[in-house]
Amino acid sequence: MQNNYHLPVLYNEVLDNIVQNKSGIYVDCTLGGGGHSEGILKTLNSDGTLIAIDQDDDAINFAKERLKKYSENLKVFKENFVNLDIVLYMAGFDKVDGILMDIGVSSKQLDNAERGFSYRFDAKLDMRMDQTQSLSAYEVVNEYSEEELTKIIFLYGEDRFAKKIAHEIVKRRTLKKIETTFELVEAIVAAKKVKSLKHPAKQTFQAIRIEVNRELEILEKTIDKAVDFLNVKGRLGIITFHSLEDRIVKNKFRELERSCVCPSDIPICICNTKPKVKIITKKPIIPNTNEVNVNNRAHSSKLRIIERV
Ligand SMILES: C[S@@+](CC[C@H](N)C(=O)[O-])C[C@H]1O[C@@H](n2cnc3c(N)ncnc32)[C@H](O)[C@@H]1O
Repeated sequence: MQNNYHLPVLYNEVLDNIVQNKSGIYVDCTLGGGGHSEGILKTLNSDGTLIAIDQDDDAINFAKERLKKYSENLKVFKENFVNLDIVLYMAGFDKVDGILMDIGVSSKQLDNAERGFSYRFDAKLDMRMDQTQSLSAYEVVNEYSEEELTKIIFLYGEDRFAKKIAHEIVKRRTLKKIETTFELVEAIVAAKKVKSLKHPAKQTFQAIRIEVNRELEILEKTIDKAVDFLNVKGRLGIITFHSLEDRIVKNKFRELERSCVCPSDIPICICNTKPKVKIITKKPIIPNTNEVNVNNRAHSSKLRIIERV
């Protein structure tokens, strides 16, 4: 049942590197199908606690059912992980021993046609992980200005045809609103007119999804919050799936490890900045070939870990 929902990536690598204290308090910010959470719960002893968060009701319902035998040691919150501080306050903890973020969408979200995340299925434009939020892909595609669309597709999709795609979307939507994923794909295909191995809509869909769910902004904010909740020696592990996310994590981790931020022309340090963390993974942990053969979605995953000092 769990494999149909989502196969956790870098499962052993997460458990080996994040769970250092079997009686500790851990947070899984991205519960999804509950694969990593179950691994953490299996590793903990009866004194350990896992706080699990997801913003998607479907994930919460599925994982609660899957993990019901661990209910004594598990607290589940339907929240955006950017509100980690609120969740920990509600759960009654001010420090934890480890935090996991396995970001992006789950296989279930991607494969469920109705959620409108995928260019492979025809569905209403949606792409909200939290289906109670008001902004969806429909508003982004039909209401954002051509300049805003260009910027999003260029920055979050890294598509060099961003201008052409935005122009085509705006041209089409003045005649008739773009309501479905396939209508959006048609506009993208018409704008790009190039053949490539990659699906022509892949980058634009990624860009719109990132915008709808404010994924990059939330990731950056949450790293800062998460670090302040870690006990000394507590670890934060983040799994990313594309270069935009990985760049944010890498740079943020470096910034947190820095000991001095004085301008280079000042002879002595006056900022007194102390490193908050030690980077555990100088290079990110990536899946082995076996894992990629079994789970193609793991192919671009990267795990980076820091430890609180
Ligand atoms: C890649 S899946 C996690 C899969 C999970 N590790 C497992 O083993 O099944 C990502 C999950 O995180 C959730 N998510 C993504 N961004 C979130 C955010 N900002 N706040 C809360 N949940 C988020 C998504 O709804 C999705 O269910």
